[in-house]
Amino acid sequence: MTSSPEYLLAGGKAELDRLTVQARVWEPDTNRMLDEIGLQAGANCVDLGCGAIGVLASLRGKVGAQGHVVGVDLDPKLLGAAKNFLEERGIYDVELIVGDAYHTNLPDNTFDLTHVRFLFSPVGHDDQLLSEMIRLTKPGGIIVIQESDSSSWNCLPVPASWPALKNALLQAFKLGGGDFDAGHRMFGMLRKAGLEDVHIHASLIALQDQHPYMRSALQFTSSLRERILKNNILSEDELNRAYADYEQAIAKPETTVTSFTINQVWGRKPE
Ligand SMILES: C[S@@+](CC[C@H](N)C(=O)[O-])C[C@H]1O[C@@H](n2cnc3c(N)ncnc32)[C@H](O)[C@@H]1O
Repeated sequence: MTSSPEYLLAGGKAELDRLTVQARVWEPDTNRMLDEIGLQAGANCVDLGCGAIGVLASLRGKVGAQGHVVGVDLDPKLLGAAKNFLEERGIYDVELIVGDAYHTNLPDNTFDLTHVRFLFSPVGHDDQLLSEMIRLTKPGGIIVIQESDSSSWNCLPVPASWPALKNALLQAFKLGGGDFDAGHRMFGMLRKAGLEDVHIHASLIALQDQHPYMRSALQFTSSLRERILKNNILSEDELNRAYADYEQAIAKPETTVTSFTINQVWGRKPE
């Protein structure tokens, strides 16, 4: 197994809340991307590391009842949340499998579309994960990856301690074996792997009026707090002050947050 229950961002309810808000916020961009890819009704799709929602509802929305959608995740609690979320939307036919995205044991050449979002960034092992994605995809099928690029991530006006907090989060990610900027390398990775018709689309979101996703920096801080302190990236005082400054800033009506960018990349497995 490549990752484990001590997955970099494991954090109980804080992580569940973050994933839920995150999935809702990015849903229109995912739908737009699936339209651009031309995902058809009746297709067979898998979302590896789907978490509490992932893109399962969007995939099911495009492929309809004649299609089939599978979600795979290591964490049964997150899959339980995914099941509830789907049922709230009247979706009962998505297959949810507890398993390792890097070694799914699903058969070769099964899916018309294989998707991963935010798994290269926290876990990495690019070659292994991409090989598994390619193995699972039918010849002529599509491999889709959505990963982050932190350069656009900002709070405006910028609180004095935001650069230090952002840097601490990015460093803590790295020390846990992840890379918040995994989105930088996905396009080249698909090209080098020999996929055809490789495309990229960059998405970012501007948030205002205390939108709950403005809190994601705080939720990341809670998940990564011990790692930041243990590695002396910030002292406890500095971290507490940065957390409080950011929390105060996003409560103000004049504050906006610009999200990190999601690089959406996709390509076709040769026939
Ligand atoms: C940052 S979350 C992203 C969730 C989802 N893809 C989304 O975009 O909302 C990463 C997810 O990968 C899962 N995960 C980590 N390592 C895994 C592995 N080896 N196999 C399957 N899932 C894994 C975690 O449980 C978590 O749900």
